[in-house]
Amino acid sequence: AVVGTEMEHESAALHVTGRALYTDDLVGRTTHVLHAFPVQAPYAHARVTAVRADAAYDVPGVVRVLTAGDVPGLNDAGVKHDEPLFPDEVMYHGHAVVWVLGDTLEAARRGAKAIEVDYEPLPALVTIREAIAAESFQGGSPTVERGDVEWAFENAAHVFSGVTEMAGQEHFYLETHASLALVDEGGQVFVQCSTQHPTETQEIVAHVLGRQSHEVTVQCLRMGGGFGGKEMQPHGYAAIAALGATITGRPVRLRLPRQQDITMTGKRHGFHAEWRVGFDEDGRLLALDGTITSGGGWSLDLSEPVLARALCHIDNAYWIPHVRVHGRIAKTHITSQTAFRGFGGPQGMLVIEDALGRCAPLLGLDPAELRRRNFYVDGQDTPYGQPVRHPERMVAAWEQVRATGDVDARRAEIDAFNARSAHSKRALAMTPVKFGISFNFTAFNQGGALVHVYKDGSVLINHGGTEMGQGLHTKMLQVAATALGLPLARVRLAPTRTDKVPNTSATAASAGADLNGAAVKDACEQILARLETVRAGRDIAWDDLVREAYYARVQLWAAGFYRTEGLHWDAAAMRGSPFKYFAYGACAAEVEVDGFTGAYRLRRVDIVHDVGDSLSPLVDLGQVEGGFVQGTGWLTLEDLRWDASDGPHRGRLATQSASTYKLPSLSEMPEDFRVAFLDKAHEDGAVYGSKAVGEPPLMLAFAVREALREAAGAFGPPGVSVELDSPATPEAVYWAIERVRRSG
Ligand code: MTE
Ligand code: MOS
Repeated sequence: AVVGTEMEHESAALHVTGRALYTDDLVGRTTHVLHAFPVQAPYAHARVTAVRADAAYDVPGVVRVLTAGDVPGLNDAGVKHDEPLFPDEVMYHGHAVVWVLGDTLEAARRGAKAIEVDYEPLPALVTIREAIAAESFQGGSPTVERGDVEWAFENAAHVFSGVTEMAGQEHFYLETHASLALVDEGGQVFVQCSTQHPTETQEIVAHVLGRQSHEVTVQCLRMGGGFGGKEMQPHGYAAIAALGATITGRPVRLRLPRQQDITMTGKRHGFHAEWRVGFDEDGRLLALDGTITSGGGWSLDLSEPVLARALCHIDNAYWIPHVRVHGRIAKTHITSQTAFRGFGGPQGMLVIEDALGRCAPLLGLDPAELRRRNFYVDGQDTPYGQPVRHPERMVAAWEQVRATGDVDARRAEIDAFNARSAHSKRALAMTPVKFGISFNFTAFNQGGALVHVYKDGSVLINHGGTEMGQGLHTKMLQVAATALGLPLARVRLAPTRTDKVPNTSATAASAGADLNGAAVKDACEQILARLETVRAGRDIAWDDLVREAYYARVQLWAAGFYRTEGLHWDAAAMRGSPFKYFAYGACAAEVEVDGFTGAYRLRRVDIVHDVGDSLSPLVDLGQVEGGFVQGTGWLTLEDLRWDASDGPHRGRLATQSASTYKLPSLSEMPEDFRVAFLDKAHEDGAVYGSKAVGEPPLMLAFAVREALREAAGAFGPPGVSVELDSPATPEAVYWAIERVRRSG
């Protein structure tokens, strides 16, 4: 049970037997529950001129229609105050205008259908390009800058420019958004919610109800996946449920069916990037400039911090002496895009990886060699001014993949295969990952815990983080057992609640284990220190010691706290050292592409990833594998389509279910998948020497995309720069091959 030993996820058996409780499972254990159903607007942009709700009350079982007039506090679902909960202006297709509460879900649904809403349609912007043309932007537009870009381009041996566009991504967590709100005796509100950010859910519910935070408690049992999609998006739905509960006095359940979830909630931001890169004679990066535009959707949500992280990862693992990249956020009439594993980092990194992949043939260099040549070395710092610590670990991961993946020999075999195969081509590509760990916004880097030792010696821990499948609770149990020197069976973990640990940060930025683990350890160490005074050097069993301590009136519980030291960040200047450390990884991916159709197979993937001294190796392995596959889905399969025509469905999401939105499944797994952790990777100053793991592995999937690009290139003569859409669906790969053939 101690940290570093392999153990399964603490809820694995519950997950696979269906006994694990999720928010919506509590509905069956609650009486007199009302169900909420929205009226969704059929326009991307429109003014609401009239709502006639009376007819809903004729539907049997309809109890209440909720409208803006019911809101005692602030009619807003976000922290930026740009998200009206009940809007008078529809901002995207599917926007919820009002909500109906019914004794059954069916009654609520039929009630919603009976409501008549009059709309005055307005012009809508759907794509990032349309927003750029219309100069429709929102939020700040920061620039990351260092050196003298003009000088560098004048003196560069080679200069290339391009445009890179990448799609967003639907979270497709198995459990959709869910809340269940109840009212206590004094009107206090208790909300069960599938949320990565219980504190912020609490704050939004409080401001909608016009209450103080101490009147609202939020609990999250666990989530069936969050992936960033439940960092800011649950708040409004929790607020609707809480509002309904305070008005009717009955519990209110709001769970989005898949189609509502996918049409109403935010996704990964798509990005549009214009870039120019300069290299010296040897293919060393000299300069990068450009503008990256994220597609923010209708409101800001987390678009600003997502953009900041994109700009802070535009370098990936590469030293670029002269940099000037502007960022901006397009305002469009689609869902409000939000956090998604990597939080803008993947989008920023894709820009430089796409540029390197396109430029390598023009420089006459092997892409893997071009990448390797540009890695950071000791003493260099990032464009925003943070020294890159341990760049040799990046090199170590890269060389380990090359060696254990037998990369050089396999590339020779691939060349031979391609020489004799006219209609299918193979390629093996390697890409690196360097990902900064900590929230850019320094204040969020704090964690809290509450540890109780009961008189019988058993231990109960609470901490500020939420469990979404990533294994945070497993790690926290291991940390507590290790710190207290107890077997795991003596330690239990209780669900996350805002009345146990207050003022928490979102479980996000992969920092859950770093922040809460250190806080749990702190609480355990306080208790241990008190017990040591009772022990007074004697050899005495834990249970006896605890009992003695109780009778000696020694406090047997403690609140733990941690804050990450040494961080600073100037968001306006885009300068500082916002990250505690960097997580490194390297990936080699081999594909085979069919020249007639663009269809491909992922033949083999080798990964070496840096998790520091792993707290829980099986959990970390799952995170690396899952992150990689999710990244591969984003880059090669998952294809969000909004109707951008001028027809009657303009702005409607066309990919509304699993039948039209293709997720990776077993058949898209690499045929041969080998994951290893980087050796000798102890991270000083992090809990038990471990590193965060949740997000960085997603970006290992760049190797798949680059392999597809190189395989497409193999259909033409050498030296052709291959442009490849993202996602690189078989269709996109086919068109890339066609372009290569035509240029031949
Ligand atoms: N793994 C699973 N199984 N489910 C998830 O929802 N979310 C990811 C990652 N891994 C996620 C996951 C995201 S976006 C983040 S930020 C981290 O887990 C959050 O948890 P951590 O901070 O404990 O790593
Ligand atoms: Mo993760 S995108 O930081 O929730």
